[in-house]
Amino acid sequence: MKLLHVDSSITGSQSVSRRITASIVAHLKLKAPDLVVTYRDIAARPIPHLSEVLFVAKATGNASGEIQHDLAVTEAALDEFLTADTVVLGAPMYNFGIPSQLKTWIDSLAIAGKTFRYSENGPEGLCGGKRVIIASARGGIYTPPSPMASLDHQETYLRSLFGFIGISDIAVVRAEGVAIGPEQRQQALEAALAAVAAL
Ligand SMILES: Cc1cc2nc3c(=O)[nH]c(=O)nc-3n(C[C@H](O)[C@H](O)[C@H](O)COP(=O)(O)O)c2cc1C
Repeated sequence: MKLLHVDSSITGSQSVSRRITASIVAHLKLKAPDLVVTYRDIAARPIPHLSEVLFVAKATGNASGEIQHDLAVTEAALDEFLTADTVVLGAPMYNFGIPSQLKTWIDSLAIAGKTFRYSENGPEGLCGGKRVIIASARGGIYTPPSPMASLDHQETYLRSLFGFIGISDIAVVRAEGVAIGPEQRQQALEAALAAVAAL
């Protein structure tokens, strides 16, 4: 079995989502010692933004110079995703959504013919069978019935995106309210780490 571990937080050793993804991967590795883990830090090594030339290169497979490198990076990210049985994704909330580094990673995955296709019945996801575990960290509280719930464009977006490409096995391990104060941060992190045991 293959596991892809992706971190996207820019806060390094202070990162809540990184603590949670590390704990999830360690837990799953204990349960299945033969698990093969691939790690990608998309904050340290961002996936290139889509551009006209990169978009054309992706469509045609023809690239030269710098674009050749960019194409290789996006294709490697897609291949890792396609071959993974489980994806553990560190997803902080930034400005009510996801980090831009996480968006460029998603742009490398959402490829017609690879992760979804258009059929007579409309779009069809091609990634059924994968499991996605999202380590969500956010400064405020957005879980309903919070009055902030409608501002959650982070977990809701990720659920929609993975659902669109056919993944129904989506779990979220969440630490929220971490910016309210040190006590709330500690409690939220401890609750999230405790929830990892149930995975
Ligand atoms: C650039 C930036 C933007 C943020 N935007 C939001 C936000 O819109 N809403 C929120 O509740 N928290 C926000 N936060 C707080 C983070 O969600 C919180 O610190 C979380 O722990 C980030 O995950 P990390 O610790 O893994 O980096 C923001 C933090 C940063 C650094």
